Amino acid sequence: MIVCRSAAELEQMRQAGRLVGEVLTELAAMVAPGVSTADLDALAEKRIAQAGATPAFKGYHGYPGTICASINEEVIHGIPSGRRLLREGDIISIDVGASLDGYFGDSAVTLPVGQVSEHAAKLLRVTEEALYKAIERARPGNRISDIGHAVQQHVEAYGCSVVREFVGHGIGQRMHEEPQVPNYGEPGRGPRLTEGMVLAIEPMVNAGKPAVKVLADGWTAVTRDGSLSAHFEHTVAVRAGEPWVLTAREVPVSARR
Ligand code: MF3
Ligand code: CO
Repeated sequence: MIVCRSAAELEQMRQAGRLVGEVLTELAAMVAPGVSTADLDALAEKRIAQAGATPAFKGYHGYPGTICASINEEVIHGIPSGRRLLREGDIISIDVGASLDGYFGDSAVTLPVGQVSEHAAKLLRVTEEALYKAIERARPGNRISDIGHAVQQHVEAYGCSVVREFVGHGIGQRMHEEPQVPNYGEPGRGPRLTEGMVLAIEPMVNAGKPAVKVLADGWTAVTRDGSLSAHFEHTVAVRAGEPWVLTAREVPVSARR
């Protein structure tokens, strides 16, 4: 069942989403060579607690972190570690989820650490653009697969590839609700979008081939071919007029850098 949220519920989801956005903005400002992914995790945990909210990922199927921190060929679900230090030229996906007063927000960005290669910068740009093309399709009357189609079209036009094994999702009073939101496919398939649906749209894009595998830690997904991977995510409400990006940041992460 796909739940549609009332205007009052969407306001509450915006509060959760706003917090997630603020945490991401703060984490982005911390990203620099020498910082560990555990440092980022600790700040996120502190800020979420200070806001009276709860980390969404910690304890989810046993996941140990507040954030996911996925570097270079890591696609998603990288586990924060004090031994994992950022290095100049890396790219890092930071994924944050939290629940506030029973409603969830989920958002991710991929950031450059210092100066990165042209190749890496292009991957980040293409993936973020794909997210916004996808959000543009989150309108009443469209279908779920229109979202993934928009991602795939954009990404493949630039010679990158879309990860198939992981998908976006409905979100609300649980982090993962129906429907699944794949990042590929023919347009015009799947459930029709209606006002009040809330979707976490999250393209995962590889610079090389699409295949991924999960490491022995049981979480970290990496590209099989070792190519770089990027991930951007927003929690978005479908409504009349423009899609509402519930995790929108007042200060865009990229503008602060
Ligand atoms: N944004 C991811 C998702 O929507 C993060 C989940 S990490 C997990 O699935 F540990 F909680 F699974
Ligand atoms: Co998500």
